[in-house]
Amino acid sequence: MTQKGILAFSGGLDTSVVVKYLQDEHDMDVITVTVDVGQGDDGKKIAAKAKRLGVKRHYNIDAREEFVNGYIFPSIKANALYQKKYCLATALARPLIAKKVLEIAKKERVTSLAHGCSGKGNDQVRFDITLRSGSNLPIIAPIRDKNLDRVTELKFAKRHGIDIETVAKKFSIDQNLWGRAIEGGVLEDPYREPPDDAFIWVKTKNLSDRPAYLEIKFEGGIPVRVDGKAMEPLKLIEYVNKKAGSAGVGIVDHIEDRVVGIKSREVYETPAAACLIEAHSDLEKMVHTKHENRFKSLIDDEWSYLVYSGLWQDPLKTDLDGFIEASQKPISGTVRLKLFKGGLRVIGRKSERSLYSHEIATYGTESTFDQRLARGFVELWGMQSTEANKLQRRRKRRCCKKKHLGSDMMR
Ligand code: ARG
Repeated sequence: MTQKGILAFSGGLDTSVVVKYLQDEHDMDVITVTVDVGQGDDGKKIAAKAKRLGVKRHYNIDAREEFVNGYIFPSIKANALYQKKYCLATALARPLIAKKVLEIAKKERVTSLAHGCSGKGNDQVRFDITLRSGSNLPIIAPIRDKNLDRVTELKFAKRHGIDIETVAKKFSIDQNLWGRAIEGGVLEDPYREPPDDAFIWVKTKNLSDRPAYLEIKFEGGIPVRVDGKAMEPLKLIEYVNKKAGSAGVGIVDHIEDRVVGIKSREVYETPAAACLIEAHSDLEKMVHTKHENRFKSLIDDEWSYLVYSGLWQDPLKTDLDGFIEASQKPISGTVRLKLFKGGLRVIGRKSERSLYSHEIATYGTESTFDQRLARGFVELWGMQSTEANKLQRRRKRRCCKKKHLGSDMMR
């Protein structure tokens, strides 16, 4: 029986090498799948490339809406920022891509699953675990398993007549609707400022002297209207990306702890994520109680950690989803943001579910807050802390006295 392998195909060097490798070394028919999560590549070009590589069949799947509704929106509800910075653009897309590959794998009755990830990155973790969670078929990952580097891959490509753009790329890029990750090249020096030409979504020069404003309306934790206009999820993300990017908002530069332990310098352009997560978490603070706010930020951190670490399918993540979903019912309202020369600031928020009360908060005479109640409250609130300190003071005094006595006796 002919063996049949399937892989997610981007048309780049790694996945092209994998196609040839499966054909030549494993004697397989190859099925390629390109999943559109808003990376902005030309699907026809990629399909033509796959054909030239001699694949048995190529699929192009538009998964952008599913990406927004099933992955990006849940991440907004979780205010998801790995290590407080990274909005998980790549991490969110991988389980969806792998899921689509599995769907076609079933239809095509393939005998093996493959991917083009290296052994140094996070994507291998995300692909392997999603594929493993949905299938028992063997996983072939030649770049990782053969310990291939770029030079060896280029030689392999040349030997096999794979047409690869020979222009040396300045950076390694992964992009989708939620963000653009820029790695490698001069960025590998973590002290060096990223050059302007690393960025294409966010304006870095000649920024306007006038601020821009964004008004974002949320319902049940997801954004539904921007600047007074109801927008479809996909359009909404694109709109905010454009507007914030042109105000210079959305560049992130940080040191990231990868799953495999490597520390890497990561640079991102994520204008929509920066605005929507900032606005969403601000609205939550207005609507949720103090206790909900404190607890949810722990849940949000754990959710982000699991998703970053390739554990989208873990039961813990599903349980956290349940909590987060329940917490989002009252998160409706409008947040106003000011964008100015790369800076971003919430300047206003309102909600019908707001717990903010002017008559309680005001310093004016109309205040209904009875300050006298505070005295007893503070007394009880700090009781254990003040007791502990009292005890410490007493012990110190006793200790001093003993020392004193001791030195008297020595005399
Ligand atoms: N560090 C990010 C992550 O692991 C982005 C990785 C970008 N991927 C890439 N193949 N260039 O999610």
